[in-house]
Amino acid sequence: MAATPYTLIPHHYDVIVVGAGGAGLRATLGLAERGLKTACLSKVFPTRSHTVAAQGGISAALGNMGEDDWRWHMYDTVKGSDWLGDQDAIEYMCREAIPAIIELEHYGVPFSRTQDGRIYQRPFGGMTTHFGEGKAQRTCAAADQTGHAILHTLYQQSLKHAAEFFVEYIVVDLIMEDGACRGVVAWRLEDGSMHLFSAPMTILATGGYGRCYFSCTSAHTCTGDGNGMVVRAGLPLQDMEFVQFHPTGIYGAGCLITEGARGEGGYLTNSEGEAFMPRYAPHAKDLASRDVVSRAITVEIQEGRGVGPERDHVLLHLEHLDPSIIEERLPGISETARIFSGVDVTKEPIPVQPTVHYNMGGIPTNLHGEVVTLRDGNPETPVPGLMAVGEAACVSVHGANRLGSNSLLDLVVFGRAAAIRCAELITPGGRRAAPSRASYEPILARFDRLRHADGSTPTAAIRLAMQKTMQSHASVFRRADTLASGVEKLRSVIDSMSDVRVSDRSLIWNTDLVETLELENLLPQALATLAAAEAREESRGAHARDDFPERDDVNWLKHSLVWIADRTRVTIDHRPVHLRTLTDEVEVVPLKKRVY
Ligand code: FUM
Repeated sequence: MAATPYTLIPHHYDVIVVGAGGAGLRATLGLAERGLKTACLSKVFPTRSHTVAAQGGISAALGNMGEDDWRWHMYDTVKGSDWLGDQDAIEYMCREAIPAIIELEHYGVPFSRTQDGRIYQRPFGGMTTHFGEGKAQRTCAAADQTGHAILHTLYQQSLKHAAEFFVEYIVVDLIMEDGACRGVVAWRLEDGSMHLFSAPMTILATGGYGRCYFSCTSAHTCTGDGNGMVVRAGLPLQDMEFVQFHPTGIYGAGCLITEGARGEGGYLTNSEGEAFMPRYAPHAKDLASRDVVSRAITVEIQEGRGVGPERDHVLLHLEHLDPSIIEERLPGISETARIFSGVDVTKEPIPVQPTVHYNMGGIPTNLHGEVVTLRDGNPETPVPGLMAVGEAACVSVHGANRLGSNSLLDLVVFGRAAAIRCAELITPGGRRAAPSRASYEPILARFDRLRHADGSTPTAAIRLAMQKTMQSHASVFRRADTLASGVEKLRSVIDSMSDVRVSDRSLIWNTDLVETLELENLLPQALATLAAAEAREESRGAHARDDFPERDDVNWLKHSLVWIADRTRVTIDHRPVHLRTLTDEVEVVPLKKRVY
């Protein structure tokens, strides 16, 4: 292979964090606080990361607004995961939630307050007391802009602790040597320079891959870049078939209307004016878990009870609520509804439909954030030098379905856990030889090939074909024939990358090339999602198969691992679910039929 012409500027750190959303910033802050020289690389300015869009809140059994217990939170999370969540990791998350939120408060997050000055907590779907008996108020909120509040605070604290930020740097790939990660190659958009970052530990905090789909609540930047890098490193992704649809995306635009709206008393109706959720979930009603509400809306639409000329959505009502409550607790979504659907929420309902919101699957890790893979029959083997946190990772605390407000919690608890682990593993200031050029020359070669791609199909056309395929073949309800034809369609979309055209050859702010690199990251994740969904012959959590409507614990109580080689060659294996808890503080939660 001829050498590429790029000269790389070298950097050495104790830890490299890729991504500056909630997980990346929480890890960065924890590392910097512990005296580790930390570089945080981000393709957008940190406070523009997608965490900024998180609305409803962050769960923790603080008990500020009624009785609560982390064990109840754990029970809800295991049940919400449809038993696919790893119970040791879930126990860790629910216990650590309490100190992690208090810590956020002390860092300065401006939470909403109760009359007596405590953190305000609202009800959210699937959150109960006494192991499913009562309704918990567990979701800590900063009005309906909780992600915004957390992200800004974490960024300010990271700066205070002298973490170094490399903003608008595109990480092209992981540098792997002998199965270990040695750092990353990155491209700086502002001046077109190329960089070699080396460190004993790289933490991927690159978020989800919602943009595989045509309609999603995720930002355009949510292209799962770390997941794409992991696939190219020959490592597996886990549980990719589990894609969460949020029940209330604004009809047409897809923007999120927080579940907090139903937490504050909002409810859904169909074309007959019927509040239909009690028919599907007599107990939890509109606050059933998201998979349940999304399926219920889809059934209403499929059975002809959708509203509008196309009968393809339903209505979310808030107009019965006291306007002062809306103003105080739901200002953000009131503005979103006005801008994107022309609705005054104090007077009219909001048109909504289920929209892709979250990826339960991702890079398999243990509860310290260390990436694990299947090696010599052991699926828990850590990959040296590599960690993943946040939506990029699959710890797995969400299993087959995430409960609302457990995502911000996952970011904070496991970002923090990764920093704690790094402090145990890494000696500050230790040096190792820089990676060899041979280990990163193929990364530069791929970059150069895409930069000079002179086919006839624009990146946007290939991306649209992928998104339409995913929207119709990997949707709320799935079937063997539609999944199989989706896999075939997607393979030909991937093949069309050999004809991709990048028109801009420059290195400075070349967004054409950025989008092409992002598309190369998205495509294997789309294929992994379809292939794992086709393979899993049961219904569990967000994965609802018309042809296999029951959960099948005998054959499918296991995580899926998917490898993609040569762009379209799929290999699937499995990893056992951790049914053991971390301590003996919780009795083993009984498996039982779903009752909502
Ligand atoms: O509905 C929401 O506010 C979303 C929260 C979440 O996804 O955790």
